[in-house]
Amino acid sequence: LIEIIGVALVGYLIGSVSFAVIIARRMGVDILREGSCNPGATNVKRVLGKRAGNLCFALDFLKGLVAAGWPLLPFVGASEPVHLGIVGLIAAILGHSFSLFLGFKGGKGVATTMGGLLALAPIVLGLGIVAWVVFFYTTRYVSLASLAFGISLPVCGLFFVHDTWLMVFLVALAVLIVVRHRSNIQRLLKGTENRFVKK
Ligand code: G3P
Repeated sequence: LIEIIGVALVGYLIGSVSFAVIIARRMGVDILREGSCNPGATNVKRVLGKRAGNLCFALDFLKGLVAAGWPLLPFVGASEPVHLGIVGLIAAILGHSFSLFLGFKGGKGVATTMGGLLALAPIVLGLGIVAWVVFFYTTRYVSLASLAFGISLPVCGLFFVHDTWLMVFLVALAVLIVVRHRSNIQRLLKGTENRFVKK
């Protein structure tokens, strides 16, 4: 139990570090007040350009990878279940979305989810990224692509995941991503969502 609490605490703290806020602040911008006001890579790219957005994506991705990956290091090579990694990643996503340092506000968790799944379910991640790319390049809506990514996770899990907890986790990730995109879904339905334009 102590192991689980430790992994959860470390994951939550790692997730709570908002690279969107840090990068934007260094460039003199309060990302919580610009664009969609979301502290995530998409909004950083929208407001501050490609380099800053890509950096934010890479660092948010790394948060998930580290939070899910470090608890698994002692088990590399063993057929040990991935449960501690799941705890680490869920904590990091909750930290990212309800950050300790942002008054429990935060981003939508897509990049962090992707990073963690690289350690936990790489095939499901790969297929989810294919879904993201297809939806993004056909619609230019990042949010729709992110929703497609989220929903694809349990769907692909049905075919490739045999661990019950990992499957439950993929369902939870899909629910979390949909819930965090509530405002985007409303804008998509009203036809007012921003299409992604290069900056
Ligand atoms: O992952 C976030 C993305 O799907 C939407 O971001 O800034 O357009 O709300 P944003």
